[in-house]
Amino acid sequence: KIPLLIDTDPGVDDALALLMAFNDPRYDVVGLTIAAGNVGLEHTVRNALKVCEVAGCDVPVFAGCETPLLHPAPDAADVHGKDGLGDIGYTPAARSAEAEHAALAIIRLSHEHAGRLVLVALGPLTNVALALKLDPSLPQRIARFVVMGGAVTAQGNITAAAEFNIHFDPEAAHIVFDAFPTTDLADWEATVAHSLDHAELRGWLSAPNDRARFYEAISRQTREWSENRRGSRWFCADALAMAWVLEPDGGERVEARPMAVALEGRHSRGATVVDWRRQGGRPDNVRILLKYDQARFEAMIRGAIGAETEA
Ligand code: BDR
Ligand code: CA
Repeated sequence: KIPLLIDTDPGVDDALALLMAFNDPRYDVVGLTIAAGNVGLEHTVRNALKVCEVAGCDVPVFAGCETPLLHPAPDAADVHGKDGLGDIGYTPAARSAEAEHAALAIIRLSHEHAGRLVLVALGPLTNVALALKLDPSLPQRIARFVVMGGAVTAQGNITAAAEFNIHFDPEAAHIVFDAFPTTDLADWEATVAHSLDHAELRGWLSAPNDRARFYEAISRQTREWSENRRGSRWFCADALAMAWVLEPDGGERVEARPMAVALEGRHSRGATVVDWRRQGGRPDNVRILLKYDQARFEAMIRGAIGAETEA
């Protein structure tokens, strides 16, 4: 099995991505390292543990940094709920997080699975940046690094130019994209281009099993928010990133380019500046997802919530 380490800030779309990973028999999820982002760390840790419990998975969960490296940033509670999972008042999982810090767990697991470990970051990059500062040799032991983040044509979801995960901790993102020779980037524009149909999703979520029932409940508020604001399509960023993690060859169009993170500027902080025409002479450091096989993406989601056949 392929060892998979997931850094995440659950989060309604993170939760679906986790269910997808747990459902894939080709992967062994070796840990969840938890970031602050969508909501505060105490909630994202609690949410990760709950999703594990619902999926019947006892993977270790490691709490990470409580704040961005330098500057406080707004969360996304307006989208995901005050508790980050739709405020349904679920009973907390029986298990708690490990004592080891997420950044240290990333380093340790990279040694234990050196050369084979797939690392995916579904939240702000604070934990990964800290791990890199503690151990700059980390990228050498990672087989593949995938990030959900960035707005590659400056069509952000949190400011005009910036996407949430990068905007929450731009300094961390700068450290990470500078350190990894290659990052597979599932950006916000890819999310928008691979949206899901709300009505279809409702059908899948009516499947008679615990995972579907749980996911229907925790995502209801977010889906309603999205339907009111954006119409019939749902943008499920972390699920798309996870599809690309699990089935890389579903990526039908991927382009490598140099990319940098803007750290300053009222309008530009947190923007991911892609050198599409390679004018700056810097090496390519990201592979940008432009097109993913939508049918495979949707099949993985149905599998994750136990709705194998289309409703
Ligand atoms: C990203 O931001 C978060 O709100 C989501 O969980 C996703 O990781 C999308 O911009
Ligand atoms: Ca996320």
